[in-house]
Amino acid sequence: MQKSITGVKEEDPYNNALTQLALAAEELQMDPVYYQMLQFPMKEFITYIHVKLSNGEVKSFVGYRVQHNNARGPFKGGIRYHPAVDLNEVRALSMWMTWKTALVDIPFGGAKGGINVDPNSLKQEELEDLTRKFTDAIHNIIGPEIDIPAPDVGTNPQVMAWMMHEYSKLKGYNVPAVVTGKPIEIGGSEGRLEATGRGVAIVTREAAKLILKKDLKDVTVAVQGFGNVGSFTTKFLTDMGAKVVAISDITGGKYFKNGIQNFDDLYRDFQQYKGIGKLPYGDDITNEELLESEVDVLIPAAIENQITEHNAAKIQAKLVIEAANGPTTPMADKILEQRGIKVIPDILVNSGGVIVSYFEWVQNLEREHWELSEVNQKLENKLVKAFKDVYDYSQKKSLSYRMSALTLAVERVVNAMKLTGWR
Ligand SMILES: NC(=O)c1ccc[n+]([C@@H]2O[C@H](COP(=O)([O-])OP(=O)(O)OC[C@H]3O[C@@H](n4cnc5c(N)ncnc54)[C@H](O)[C@@H]3O)[C@@H](O)[C@H]2O)c1
Repeated sequence: MQKSITGVKEEDPYNNALTQLALAAEELQMDPVYYQMLQFPMKEFITYIHVKLSNGEVKSFVGYRVQHNNARGPFKGGIRYHPAVDLNEVRALSMWMTWKTALVDIPFGGAKGGINVDPNSLKQEELEDLTRKFTDAIHNIIGPEIDIPAPDVGTNPQVMAWMMHEYSKLKGYNVPAVVTGKPIEIGGSEGRLEATGRGVAIVTREAAKLILKKDLKDVTVAVQGFGNVGSFTTKFLTDMGAKVVAISDITGGKYFKNGIQNFDDLYRDFQQYKGIGKLPYGDDITNEELLESEVDVLIPAAIENQITEHNAAKIQAKLVIEAANGPTTPMADKILEQRGIKVIPDILVNSGGVIVSYFEWVQNLEREHWELSEVNQKLENKLVKAFKDVYDYSQKKSLSYRMSALTLAVERVVNAMKLTGWR
């Protein structure tokens, strides 16, 4: 089996993604030609964007769009605005999108984009200018049948609205299906904003039932990250009766011995005090302490590389539900496996967002608007089926859930490549 040719450093997300692919290739006894092709994205686009700030200064940013594979359908993946965005991160995320869309069986490939910017450091007009210039730069490589961006860390429905409008201006007609995660008023889907968190809660419920043999009401949970994914995950799990005892964000964490009682009150206070760590109640804990806290279920829902070889031996949860992309390094994965801690992988857990993005795209193409109940029911069906596929495969093949999910997904992509004659 050919080894990674990138020579990137340990804990680099792309290195992690390549290690995972190598394991799946070995498990599948994959034809080396397909393995080689899958290690590389099909296309990588880099653009330098210059924005004139309101104080007259000109700031330059690097924007990326990486298209990993489109054997199963148009490229699909979010746009991240974060200071740490770099090419290898975007490459890894694009590869994970290829596996994710295959695993939940929607007709898309995988892509990802990003700009190395702290969106909070820019004024709204500056952010709009940056977004429109980035859209101008990538407009020839995106489109409803080519590549469909969506929100990710640091971007939101407003950013998608600007992207859609800029793209539509260049085309000369309205093209809602070019992006998903739009505001509902301009073609967004009911339920899209909260879809990833809803999906995380559904997967947690299924995993508690089948793996811990427990009802959610008897389960304690810690959630790291309180952005789109972490906050909605906390909300839906609390609604379903789980005891969420620890939450955190970049400002720090809080421990609530009796679990969160009223999510709406908590969310209101979070907005008022501008951070979980700043709430005037609950016991203070650090992000490190949250990860190592004594709970049944740990849900990392923030950023990559939170569970590493440095803290994997100290994790006390019985089940890790990966809501973030790439929160566990391959070395930590091994340690958790040896310790009998089950990990439900990111490509399954956080797929609710891309599933409802797919529903949004279908609605746009058909000029339809589905009711929230219809969207949620379809999401539930897709996710429960995907969870069952992974669970059954892991029982049949005696594989970890990560390996099962990866292997199932990679096999589907390779089959599509074979059927369409990629070699
Ligand atoms: N939004 C989606 O639909 C979606 C879909 C699939 C996967 N994801 C993944 O889920 C993760 C979170 O995405 P999001 O959309 O919620 O982003 P977000 O920007 O809305 O929130 C990120 C959260 O993480 C916190 N955070 C950042 N750095 C941290 C650190 N060092 N320690 C602790 N907390 C930290 C932030 O304070 C914030 O609460 C990412 O890995 C993203 O790729 C998101």
